[in-house]
Formats: sequence, C-alpha cells, structure tokens
Amino acid sequence: MSMIHLTINGKPVDAACEPRTHLADFLRETNNLTGTHLGCEHGVCGACTILVDGVPTRSCITFAAACEGASVTTVEGLDDDDITSELRTAFSREHGLQCGYCTPGMLVSARDVVLRMDAPSEHDIRVAMSGNLCRCTGYVGIVRAIQGVIADRRARGIAAVAGGGRTRLGPAGSGNASTAKEAAGASKAAAVAAVKPAGQPRTAARKDDNWKPQTTFEQSFTVAHPTDVVWDFFGRVDEVAACLPGASLNGAPEGGPGGDEHVEGQIKVKVGPISAEFHGAADITRDEATRTGVIDGTGKDKRSNSATRGQIRYAVKEAETPGETRVDVAIGFTLSGVLAQFSRSGLVQDVANRLIGVFVQNLEARLAHQAGGGDADSAPVAAEFNAGSLMSSVIVGQVKQFFARLFRRG
Ligand code: FES
Ligand code: FES
Repeated sequence: MSMIHLTINGKPVDAACEPRTHLADFLRETNNLTGTHLGCEHGVCGACTILVDGVPTRSCITFAAACEGASVTTVEGLDDDDITSELRTAFSREHGLQCGYCTPGMLVSARDVVLRMDAPSEHDIRVAMSGNLCRCTGYVGIVRAIQGVIADRRARGIAAVAGGGRTRLGPAGSGNASTAKEAAGASKAAAVAAVKPAGQPRTAARKDDNWKPQTTFEQSFTVAHPTDVVWDFFGRVDEVAACLPGASLNGAPEGGPGGDEHVEGQIKVKVGPISAEFHGAADITRDEATRTGVIDGTGKDKRSNSATRGQIRYAVKEAETPGETRVDVAIGFTLSGVLAQFSRSGLVQDVANRLIGVFVQNLEARLAHQAGGGDADSAPVAAEFNAGSLMSSVIVGQVKQFFARLFRRG
C-alpha cells in the first residue's frame, strides 16, 4: 500500500491504495463516488471517463498512484457545472439516455466537446464522442443534445475555449493540462478541474532527456546478414522507412551521414475499423563506436485528433550464429487523443510485435536483393500495414495464452 494525496471534486484527499488499484476502483470503493461507472475496464467503452487536471481520462486504465498531486473531477463534482447542467437537461429532452449506464462518461466527454469546439458539425461531434459507447440508446439523441447545448451557448455569446483552455497538452495527469481558470464560460468545476500544484512535470520538448514515455517495451530479432551490412543499412533512413509497412518520407533526410539526421514523413496504420495516418518528424542519432542509434519522433493524426511521441533505441551486434546479426530494440511512446485507448500495453505490444515481424521480413528481403546485386530503387517496398486480420490474430493469440495459463494452473 502507498499513500497518495490528490484533490477530488475540490476536496483534498489522502488515502492508501495498492499500486495496482486503478483510479475508477479508487474513486468508487475508497471514496464512495459510484457515479463513475465501469464497463469494459479496458479503456474502450468510455463509461469510466472523468476529468484529471481538466482532461477527460479513462479512469479504468489510470493507476490511482499515478495521480499523485492531480486534480480529479468525477460526475458528482460536476453537479454545479453550467455546461453539465445544460447537458443533463438536453439529454433528458432529446432522449439521450435509456439505462443511463454510459451517461456519466458521456456527460464528461460531451462537456469537453461543448467547452472546446466552437461550431462542430454533426460529424465532428460523432468523432469527438467516438470514445464513448452506448449500448442501448443509440447516438442520435446524444448528438442532438450536444448540438443543442452548443447552439444555445453560442447564441448567448458564450464562445468555445480553444483547447479547453489548456495551455499545454497532456498526457492526462501530467499537469500539462493547465486550464485558464478565467476561461470564458468555464464554470467553477472547470476551475476546480484545472487546479494543479506547481512543480509537476510539463510537456517535454523533443529530445528532452526528462521525457518519460507512457508505454515501453523491448524486442530483439536476428537478421541473416553480417553485422557491418546491417549497421550500414540502418544508416540509410529512406531504405529503413521502405521496410516499415505504411511508412513514407517527404524527401531525403537532412543532415550528414554519421551525424544527426532529420526526416519528415508519415505512417499509415489500419487496425480493425480504425485507420490512422500520423504525419510527423523524427531526429536520428547514430553512434558508430557502440553501433547504437536513437530515433526521436512525433506525429499527429488529424482525423482522430490523436498525437504520438516516441523514441526507438536500437543496438546492432553480432548474433551467436556467425554471419548473422542481432538487433535489440527498445521502444517507448505516448499516445494521446482518441486513439489513446490503444495505449494499453498488451494490445499495443501485440500489434508492435507483428509490425516488427513484417519489418524484419522486408528488411531480409531488401538485404537479400542487394546482396544479389539489386539496387535500392528496384528493391521491394513494404505495403501499408493493414491489421484487419491482425486484430483477430491478436485476439486468438490472447485467447490461446489465457487457456494455456488456465491449464497450467489446473
Ligand atoms: S470502463 Fe470502459 S473505458 Fe473504462
Ligand atoms: S443509456 Fe444505456 S448504455 Fe447508454
């Protein structure tokens, strides 16, 4: 057990919790705030959405212990909030709820939409609310209720607050969502949600050594080619990108060989019904002496309004089998926005493992092509990464693991 100190609905709370306790359980069981509902407990349905430092956050995939010093606002804390009370009335009027199970999370997300978006179209609202699932009412009434509140507030001269008044963006709980208390139209609860003690970590700039990724994992693979060849290949960024499914560069890398390089480009990823195209940039550093490299990148997917920041560290060394090369890769990243629900490490790691598997196949094919005298221009190029079938293999893999564990236990 460890002690945590945070603010919940404007009141300071000091309480003990297990490191594994997620914030939703902490709110419901330790603080009796049962307005926060739990549906999937996997970060998908949005029923557990609350505000952490003013940012809508899945409390089922947020550890309570990670919220030390944070300001947490649950649906109970929005009782006197102007936007939420208008939404409550509109939800009733438009039949935006039936059983009400999804409603606390819906209200928290809808409040954020009303606060941030000036004149969103129906499509914009549907995209913004796509992280909240309703199993019984459907979405027509919910969307209409949100549209009604926005239209009404704008007609009364209450403007949207760009970015919700956040001067810096998440991740939620990082203290980077500092909301201007005086933000136009922001209610008392918005101010409460914005409270954050000084001295908390802030959004890191690129290449900031203090940046800590939300999710990290390591991978190793062996390539059936000599170490010198593989190390040289990793120095040709355009060729490495050509092996990465869905990745393309906007031009030649800037910078000198052996030194820092800067590239801009995009990567398309399709996972089940979700397709994203992250546009961004990366800085690449290589150390010839240790045969290690670091890639620092940031990207944004406009459609889902999601952003990612990541770092890949790699080390190229001789494998146990002569003539082969082992590559150790450490990946760390932070995903924010609508796609953040996929940050849960198990699923992301499964997808990443398969992505790296495809990368290695492409790498082998390209190196074999070059060893056979082919040039880079005629080498095979990786196709877009479509994980439609991959998702089912991920799920099948996880089911297999579950049964394996079960039988081992038996
Ligand atoms: S309970 Fe479904 S997202 Fe948290
Ligand atoms: S009102 Fe029943 S789940 Fe949304």
